[in-house]
Amino acid sequence: MTSLSFLADAPPAPLQKLFEEDPERATRFAHDLGGIRFDFSKTHLTADLLDRVDAAAYAAALERLVAGEVINPTEGRAAEHLAERGTGSPDAVALAAQRHSRMRALIDAIEAGAFGDITGVLHIGIGGSALGPALLVDALGRTERRYKVEILSNIDGQAVDSALARLDPATTLVAIASKTFTTAETLRNADAALAWLEEAGVEDPYGRLVAITAAPEKAVEFGIDETRVLPFAPSVGGRYSLWSSIGFPAALALGMDAFEQLLEGAALVDEHVAEVAPTANIPLIAAVGDLLYSRGLGAETRAVFAYDDRLRLLPSYLQQLVMESNGKSATLDGKAVDGATSAILWGGTGTDAQHAVFQLLHQGTHLVPVEFVAVAEGNDEQEPTHHRELLLNMLAQGAALMAGRDSGDLHRNYPGNRPSTTILLDDLDPAALGTLIAFYEHRTFAEAVLLGINPFDQFGVELGKEMARAIDDPEARAAFDPSTRALIERAGL
Ligand code: F6P
Repeated sequence: MTSLSFLADAPPAPLQKLFEEDPERATRFAHDLGGIRFDFSKTHLTADLLDRVDAAAYAAALERLVAGEVINPTEGRAAEHLAERGTGSPDAVALAAQRHSRMRALIDAIEAGAFGDITGVLHIGIGGSALGPALLVDALGRTERRYKVEILSNIDGQAVDSALARLDPATTLVAIASKTFTTAETLRNADAALAWLEEAGVEDPYGRLVAITAAPEKAVEFGIDETRVLPFAPSVGGRYSLWSSIGFPAALALGMDAFEQLLEGAALVDEHVAEVAPTANIPLIAAVGDLLYSRGLGAETRAVFAYDDRLRLLPSYLQQLVMESNGKSATLDGKAVDGATSAILWGGTGTDAQHAVFQLLHQGTHLVPVEFVAVAEGNDEQEPTHHRELLLNMLAQGAALMAGRDSGDLHRNYPGNRPSTTILLDDLDPAALGTLIAFYEHRTFAEAVLLGINPFDQFGVELGKEMARAIDDPEARAAFDPSTRALIERAGL
């Protein structure tokens, strides 16, 4: 069952016309939450379109999500990441709080010297067990970081060597982050880190390991003492897990108080979506815009550009959040979807991207809704000149995409009427980042509800994992296609 009938309408009026028709459009389609301005006015959203959304279906699904009902039926699970920030059933909220206290106690012990003189942490994890912590530390820990943090995700010896070279084995803790504690890349890299500690003569290498997992028994089996296992609930999905103990390296580097502010910022969005009218619900509005372009107007991609180096990891974080959640072909009731689901999300940082890919955005033939994310306050040594120019450029791009320019020469013509959303943070602090990330989570959820799909499973990643194991088995290898067999031989495997 999908709730997409609201899209059945004539093509939208050009953006410039929408502004002419409604002198209040710039404010009518801009919303504020937690020190962030979400400006949708340069998209083709209209009040009529928002009015037609099946708000009841969304509200019912949101209620089920918050109540901890089985909203992920293919895995028979609830999705309880909201409980990590205090939104959910009393039991789930209490359990999450208890696990945060456990994380705080471990951080206190590290600071008190229980593990000797610790100066850094090697965080090993992949996908949702790495992208969130990496974003948090990179965005918020540029100037003040109490501990060095290296995030190691890839099963690539070069990546292992580089990460280890930046750390001192004598003063490093190794955090092994894996929800399942079965992920091949993470376990292989954990072995490499253990060998590194052993070779450096660390007396008790296992004593330097911390596990972050929803399968604590597997971490104990691996050899990690139960006192250094930070559990989280199996109902917290990997790509939604940065609020849980998966956020450990960020909480360690930035301080537990900062981590709690992050959670508070996220909770603000949970409250917002539960309380406001559908037509003022910021994530729901954004999701309607996403569907208008992808499902209604055939846009295959959407692009996010961070006009702030501190948010350079945001596009890759969002790629997992959005594409692993809503890149689906089956509806919740097990039928094939009857149209496009998630758009492909891509992006980069401004202004770099202006000198690389923006040509296509301005004059190419694809419809690509663009999203700009920027921070009004710069907080860098080069202020105000650099930051000012960064913001001026960002604003110029949105205006140019919309206005275009008719030059009479096709080569120099800018068609205009190209949509963009601008998300402007007053400042980049833990609370604002929490609000920003939770906005994207709720937007992804709202899109899934309207599409009638399950955003909380990810079976699409399993076949490749299985085949990677089979390809290493000489007998199973023979069953592979001729191209793959030839490449195996060429690679000398
Ligand atoms: O393979 C995809 C995936 O399962 C993601 O959903 C997840 O975030 C990542 O792998 C890591 O999984 P784990 O935390 O269990 O190691």
